[in-house]
Amino acid sequence: MKHVLPVSWSEADGRGRVGGVALTELAARFGTPLVVVDESHLEDRLTRFRAAFGADAGLTYAGKAFLCGALVRLLDREGWLVDVVSGGELELVRRAGFPGRNVILHGNAKSAAELERAIAYGVGRIVIDHPDEVDDLRRAAAAVGSGHRPDLLLRLNVDLDPATHEKVRTVGPGTHFGMSPSVAASVARRIAGAGEWRLTGVHIHAGSQIRDPVLFSRVAEAAVDFVAPLRLCFPGTVDLDLGGGLAAPYRAGEEVPSPREYAEALQVGLDRSDAEARLGAYRLIVEPGRSVIANAGLTLYTIHARKRLDGAGEALAVDGGLSDNPRPSLYGASYEVLNASRGRGDAPRSFRVVGRHCESGDVIAPAATLPGDTAVGDVLAIPGTGAYVFAMSSRYNGVGRPAVVFVRDGAAREVVRRETDDDLLACDLSLGSPEPARGARPVSAAAVRPSRAR
Ligand code: LLP
Repeated sequence: MKHVLPVSWSEADGRGRVGGVALTELAARFGTPLVVVDESHLEDRLTRFRAAFGADAGLTYAGKAFLCGALVRLLDREGWLVDVVSGGELELVRRAGFPGRNVILHGNAKSAAELERAIAYGVGRIVIDHPDEVDDLRRAAAAVGSGHRPDLLLRLNVDLDPATHEKVRTVGPGTHFGMSPSVAASVARRIAGAGEWRLTGVHIHAGSQIRDPVLFSRVAEAAVDFVAPLRLCFPGTVDLDLGGGLAAPYRAGEEVPSPREYAEALQVGLDRSDAEARLGAYRLIVEPGRSVIANAGLTLYTIHARKRLDGAGEALAVDGGLSDNPRPSLYGASYEVLNASRGRGDAPRSFRVVGRHCESGDVIAPAATLPGDTAVGDVLAIPGTGAYVFAMSSRYNGVGRPAVVFVRDGAAREVVRRETDDDLLACDLSLGSPEPARGARPVSAAAVRPSRAR
């Protein structure tokens, strides 16, 4: 179980603590559902990646896994780059004061406005997903009127078959990202021929939650094999951006490669394809998301109901679920569940832990083993929920998104506040200004947004 939990995890009387703070205390202070992120775990992961890849590698955090200002500042301090995929993510890193030159912009459907904002911000690299994007970029640069020209990378769709969930496989037949090597080769020649933009490299992201290191070696080989015959199209040092995808452990006993094994697997591919001799100077870029943040985070819920199910054991219904973590429904994701309130408690029993949403698929864990005296009001903790959970949360059933707290050395700081009803309703132009309902708690002035006429 330990490898699923944040590094600062400890227990007192069997009750969990992270960053030296009891989970029950966090729940009482900030409410639930709550996303708790262990800062020391994050730093540990960033350090392990740096040690595995060396000072020169372009370590790039995939912002889609989880993004907030506090994390962006930490990444900047540690010398990481950030990959973003939308105007919203771009704006978040910009407002956090992150240097544009350390941003990589991805996306298979970038809008003109997003390209313009990226150029105006001075992003370092843009990954071209399809041939027409070169013209889109030219128009965006003209519209912005800036002399800044981001370096360009071409996204390749190569013929590999990653062993992972079909929804997170991003190369091979049936996938819609990037270009085949032959199309990408003609785009490379076009960009090099026009001489207006610097084509610096290629990008391959084969998929996510990949456990088999051999796949990473193949990705590296495919990238080198593509660039080598076209080397003249890439002036200077070649960017070999080999994407993300390293798996994170979700369940006790689940083994995944370490950052070092990941780096070694990529190196095997680079060596096998003779990268140094065929490319000369190149820079390795990787874009891990999940493997950096997944196990730094856990989600806290409060149990609102315990009830017997007809012929199917007992259910514990909590105050979140599908809206703050759609992964069980989308990918059949499976998590551990811990009772943070009860420690060891009575003899363990199996419970179905369900969310609060109006569909039978809202099951956080179909058979969690928890103390038999687990009761309404107890706090449950779901480890491994740092990646693609808060980032994918919705407001389904009118449930606002949770708060996020960072913990370390016995202290907790709220880095994203919980969404209020006013946040939920702020874009509905027909609702008018909020009037506190009778008996409702007063709404803070800062949370009230002016709204347009009905
Ligand atoms: N680079 C690119 C271009 C990507 O599309 C992704 C993930 C990454 C890097 C980071 O991959 P990671 O190291 O996190 O595996 N929502 C899904 C995962 C979708 C991954 C999308 N792309 C889930 O919850 O499993």
